[in-house]
Amino acid sequence: MMKRKKISVIFGTRPEAIKLAPVILALKKDRRFICKVCVTAQHREMLDQVLEVFGIKPDVDLNLMRRNQTLSDFAARALVAIDKYLTNEKPDFVLVQGDTTTVFCAALASFYHHIPLGHVEAGLRTWNFNAPWPEEANRVLTSRIGTLHFAPTMGNRRNLLKERIATDRVFVTGNTVIDALFLALAKVKKCPPDIDGLPDFLQPGKCNTAGKKPRIVLITGHRRENFGKGFENICRAIAVLAKRFPDVHFVYPVHLNPNVREPVYRILGQHSDKSSFCIHHSELENVHLIAPQSYLSFVALMNRSSLILTDSGGVQEEAPSLGKPVLVMRDVTERPEAVDSGAVKLVGTSRKSIVRTVGNLLTDSKLYKRMRHTRNPYGDGKAAERIIKVLVRFIRSQTH
Ligand code: UD1
Ligand code: UDP
Repeated sequence: MMKRKKISVIFGTRPEAIKLAPVILALKKDRRFICKVCVTAQHREMLDQVLEVFGIKPDVDLNLMRRNQTLSDFAARALVAIDKYLTNEKPDFVLVQGDTTTVFCAALASFYHHIPLGHVEAGLRTWNFNAPWPEEANRVLTSRIGTLHFAPTMGNRRNLLKERIATDRVFVTGNTVIDALFLALAKVKKCPPDIDGLPDFLQPGKCNTAGKKPRIVLITGHRRENFGKGFENICRAIAVLAKRFPDVHFVYPVHLNPNVREPVYRILGQHSDKSSFCIHHSELENVHLIAPQSYLSFVALMNRSSLILTDSGGVQEEAPSLGKPVLVMRDVTERPEAVDSGAVKLVGTSRKSIVRTVGNLLTDSKLYKRMRHTRNPYGDGKAAERIIKVLVRFIRSQTH
């Protein structure tokens, strides 16, 4: 019988929480492990939304978010706080996910404590430290000091091997986001959520007075390299499209980063938004600026939409499972698999390119159908299971 090992799962933002939730739930059920959850709360409200959906209660909440935090300020506070946490908790193993500042700081602190580190969603690369910034650097640096690397795809594994990470430390598992998506879809089907801030006729499962379901283009965005001009272009493109397609509804759950909210509300809203969770109506009747949605509501919204316009990493991975075409407002992606399969297209952040490509998809049904009928290259919903198996093998090998 293996002695129970203590694994600390450390995370801070919405996507990390979504993608680690299936792993935490599996670890908590497994008697071979003592699973401790530590959150930096790099995100506060958007993290709490996810914890609530999955019923996860952190053992330690470092509560580090500050309004409009800078990269260095947050990184410095996170490194010190995680270091202290590791000193007190003394886990046998640390698990992180993705490429945020929390991930890099947790990796560095674990390295300083000689604690082996597992990196979920390892090996994604654009090979360009400026895009996405600072995430590409965070994940490359985490790979350098990590112990076990859980690569979602064979391509991610090849990237790690190119960087001379040892072959026997890299495991292809699929992406845990698909596990999370399947868990959420089961809940959404049982009990369809209401979307705050949307009129009745746009709610999932509802129709308008003519008995029709108007088309929805769902939008999200938050990349730092798009701050300023990029976001201005994106918003102006949405305004042009909303005027050109008055029967299509543009639904935009606006990220809480002030650098995102400012241009979005200035260009698309009626007045600027000072508080975080306020709902404001746009002058354009078919543009709906709403608060960040809980994971269940967002999954229901993705499912209800015709098309998704985003710069998000996770959304690029989820949408193909739902058969939704995705236009990515970036010049490069570390997730080329869905681009290759035809479900995802890069449109950059130029106003012209966004307007033209969305317009084409809204008017050309053949083109639209081609993007819908694809399979998902990111997983089968069993990534967490595979990760646990690897962890058991690793811990056994350490104790013998
Ligand atoms: C962060 C990650 C990014 C990830 C994204 C997911 C870094 C450097 N960035 O970007 O990799 O893709 O999360 O969404 O690690 N805020 C709130 N409440 C929240 C969340 C954010 O008010 O729940 C506001 C705060 O003012 C905060 C600011 O947004 O200071 C920025 O948050 P931060 O985590 O530093 O950057 P994101 O843009 O969210
Ligand atoms: N998401 C959510 N509510 C929203 C918007 C997105 O729950 O209002 C989910 C989405 O389904 C995906 C994740 O958040 O799983 C993506 O987070 P984000 O785009 O903030 O970060 P990224 O994936 O780009 O790091």
